Amino acid sequence: MGRVTLTQLKKHRQDGSRFSMVTAYDACFAKIASDAGIDSILVGDSLGMVLQGHDSTLPVTVEDIAYHTRCVAAASPQCLIVSDMPFMASATTQDAVNAARTLMQSGANVVKVEGGANLADLIKLYNDQGVATCCHLGLTPQFVNQFGGYKVQGRTDETAKRLIDAAHRLDQIGCDIILLECVPNHVTRAIIEVTSVPVIGIGAGPQCTGQVLVMHDLLGITPGKPARFVRNFMQDANTIQEAFASFDRAVKDGSFPALEHSFVD
Ligand code: KIV
Repeated sequence: MGRVTLTQLKKHRQDGSRFSMVTAYDACFAKIASDAGIDSILVGDSLGMVLQGHDSTLPVTVEDIAYHTRCVAAASPQCLIVSDMPFMASATTQDAVNAARTLMQSGANVVKVEGGANLADLIKLYNDQGVATCCHLGLTPQFVNQFGGYKVQGRTDETAKRLIDAAHRLDQIGCDIILLECVPNHVTRAIIEVTSVPVIGIGAGPQCTGQVLVMHDLLGITPGKPARFVRNFMQDANTIQEAFASFDRAVKDGSFPALEHSFVD
């Protein structure tokens, strides 16, 4: 079986079926995720927190993500590999080109960028260069200082409209995937209505085409109180592979996320 492709993810959006994504940062976990049937691996800048011990993702560099993308790609997983564009790494056109080149040449299939409608020019640039893109909207952790903390986004009519308009515009411009983090279910539903690409959720409700969790959350090893959108899949599993497989099944049969993992108002 070959690697999962963007075309397959887009087919899930068309036929209403679901796909799974987990973060992974090394060859060992990438292989376990792949063997468990996970469709996509995110080499997320969450590695700044879960691997490097920082209190935000801001210190993560392109070289960090490139290194971990190479580690994941070395396991030859059958998963589509999505790699994060770190904080400020695409702030100028030249930086954006260099960073995407580095990530793609390290083994990424798709580059994920955080922001909103401001991403339009970047997506056009990447489209022209053959770089597939995932636009991360909602609670974008690289904007934590502007947000004043890790808070649910799109709760007011005005901020919800801003998110929906941004998703619509980015879809029209040609982004390949939208990832929504911590937005109320009704905002996710509106975004799905105005877009055609797969929508991946984390704390964005059960309507999304795909669901992603940070590996450490899914395995219940993140210190402290878990976020509302997290379920510990290790609780009823004997092995890590079983936990990943159980997450994959729960996403595909629609039992995760449940209402209790979502933000409803
Ligand atoms: O960096 C990351 O792991 C992410 C997920 C939380 C979606 O962006």
